[in-house]
Amino acid sequence: MDVVDLSALGESFTRDPYPVYARLRAQGPVHRIRMPEGGAIAWLVVGYEAGRAALADPRLSKDWSNASPALPLDAVSSGPHMLRADPPDHTRLRKLVAREFTARRVEGLAPRIQKTTDALLDRMLAAPDGRADLVEALSFPLPISVICELLGVPDLDRESFRTWSNDAIGATDPTVRKTAAASMARYLTTLLEVRRQQPGDDLMSALMHGADDDGDRLSPEELLGMAWLLLVAGHETTVNLISNGVLALLTHPDQLAALRADPSLIDNAVEEMLRYDGPVETPTYRFTTEPVTIGGTVVPGGGELVLVALADANRDPARFDSPDRFDITRDARGHVAFGHGIHYCLGAPLARLEARIAIGSLLDRCTDIALDIHPAAIMWRPGLLIRGPRSLPLRFTR
Ligand code: HEM
Repeated sequence: MDVVDLSALGESFTRDPYPVYARLRAQGPVHRIRMPEGGAIAWLVVGYEAGRAALADPRLSKDWSNASPALPLDAVSSGPHMLRADPPDHTRLRKLVAREFTARRVEGLAPRIQKTTDALLDRMLAAPDGRADLVEALSFPLPISVICELLGVPDLDRESFRTWSNDAIGATDPTVRKTAAASMARYLTTLLEVRRQQPGDDLMSALMHGADDDGDRLSPEELLGMAWLLLVAGHETTVNLISNGVLALLTHPDQLAALRADPSLIDNAVEEMLRYDGPVETPTYRFTTEPVTIGGTVVPGGGELVLVALADANRDPARFDSPDRFDITRDARGHVAFGHGIHYCLGAPLARLEARIAIGSLLDRCTDIALDIHPAAIMWRPGLLIRGPRSLPLRFTR
């Protein structure tokens, strides 16, 4: 099978990958690709049915020790964690955190999310020229402060953390990725030490000091991995749900008007934002443990890298009518923006809550809001994992 060189498509693919995926889907559900980041050769699964099946396929391992040694991969996380684990390790880690990551803890964050959003919007809307970058003003600072609150990290050095986190998962240069991951590991180790000495009523303290019914608890390395995963997964994604969601509204004035006319549509609108232009384009790596046949193509065993194009699954006309249309009244349920199967996003309720409050409050506070850049000029984050604009300049009237 020919290799489709996604790295050669450059900025046009980063800006709008959907037509490229759709063309591949028209040819079949599985393709060999060269990745923009690192140049590794991977197998890309497109389409809804094949993608969903691959996400739940136990022959596709998330344990990096199953990766082919020939793959040019480098570790960018700190400590073992759920997105690098298969059952039974994954089951154990997920059980330990799910016990603490309860609906009650998430719902309990709502007043705090509203308060933080209000303060960020106060600052943003005070701009004398009526202009701001939404990413800087709201999309980035809100999720990071929420996840810090949840984890009990009050004084996180946010700018450094943002750079390390962005670089660790998005930089195309492997040396930059590794250096950033090492800096983050050092930083988190210090933070966990502080929590060990001064426990609070936060999630990390609960995970550190609590144990499950069988007396099981996370080891220090697992705590580091968990902190890393929650911090990165908790803010690299939600930032882009807010930005991509607002962008979709501003480029579809009829949908914006419909939401303004009936604010109770917000929950449905957030689901459609997740489907239409979700923050995770292809989720984390999977490796074959045996040959796997997808749509008549045999993907060899031996640790081949498999990526599932969530972005394409959510635009498959076989699953969603007129999938390229942004329609906040459609039934978008069944989208795979949060993944599928045992690794289904643990933070989905929190992400939905943050997006609802952030986008709802932005519309409440700004009667008139518009893009301050031509959509084609927006610069997008590189790489296949995350989809979102680097910045989103807006103009508004309070
Ligand atoms: C809009 C925001 C978010 C999106 C689109 C998103 C998406 C995803 C996806 C696609 C996966 C599965 C990855 C895979 O199968 O390879 C995942 C897993 C995960 N997410 Fe999220 N996520 C979001 C927000 C969050 C938040 C706020 C948190 C935590 C506070 C979080 C924590 C996690 C964790 C811990 C996992 C791993 C679960 C496991 O392996 O069992 N995510 N997320």
